[in-house]
Amino acid sequence: MTVKTVTSLTNPTIKEIRALALPKNRKASGLFVTEGMKLVADAVEENWPIRILVYGAKVAGHAVVGKVAARAQASGGTVLEVSEAVLSKITRRDNPQMVVGVFEQRFIGRERVKPGRSGVWVALEGIKDPGNLGTIIRTVDAVGADGVILVGDTVDPFGVEAVRATMGSVFHVPLARMSAAEFAAWRKSWPGIVVGTHLSGREDYRAVGYGKRPTLLLMGNEQSGLPDPLAGLCDHLVRIPQEGRADSLNLAIATGIMLYEIRRERLAL
Ligand SMILES: C[S@@+](CC[C@H](N)C(=O)[O-])C[C@H]1O[C@@H](n2cnc3c(N)ncnc32)[C@H](O)[C@@H]1O
Repeated sequence: MTVKTVTSLTNPTIKEIRALALPKNRKASGLFVTEGMKLVADAVEENWPIRILVYGAKVAGHAVVGKVAARAQASGGTVLEVSEAVLSKITRRDNPQMVVGVFEQRFIGRERVKPGRSGVWVALEGIKDPGNLGTIIRTVDAVGADGVILVGDTVDPFGVEAVRATMGSVFHVPLARMSAAEFAAWRKSWPGIVVGTHLSGREDYRAVGYGKRPTLLLMGNEQSGLPDPLAGLCDHLVRIPQEGRADSLNLAIATGIMLYEIRRERLAL
């Protein structure tokens, strides 16, 4: 196996990886960065194509690193052994992870957004906060829901902050994206109910009777909530009751409450 050793902070591959911090470069290349030995190994195990593997000299003899490096090279990827200074530069952290992988982004086509094992999909309109998006992807994974649809202009799920917040779930949860118009057209083919969450929703979120029906959960964005045209596509508009003076719940928390309520009902049947 040929592994290049890099200690120069100006190495072109290192520069290329650092450039992926910018959305425009992720968009142009279709690539993204993930950090940590476990996450990189899990991703490779799940057949995500790895383009570049970078690891610290400290972990060079580690069996997992050897396995991932062999897989990366077998698929034509680049493998670099680097100094800790280089890893700090790539991850912009003083105590960097010892393994960094560059993978190809993956979105599924609209035609594949169908009720699967759980029958539950989450659609996020205009989500802007990468921490919220990563947390929601992680929660969708934890609850066993089928996937996430990004509607309209949203934050990039493959940005470093969002990927970190998924804690690896970005490799396990199918992601689709649609404009608001595409979503409105696609919604007609959804075979179950569409449930929107809204601060002025008339129904309590526990009163819907989700049963085992395929359920598409539609969440509004952090600033302005669900726009009227999207709210108009819902069979139910629900509200999670609040007691205190908070104006609303955090989007990721509200999504978690909804998903666990839907799961609770399914398990009770
Ligand atoms: C931070 S809230 C949006 C607040 C925004 N100012 C508004 O007027 O809708 C983000 C999203 O979380 C969900 N959400 C938050 N609190 C909720 C609640 N109490 N009931 C239902 N949905 C809620 C909704 O989907 C909402 O669009």
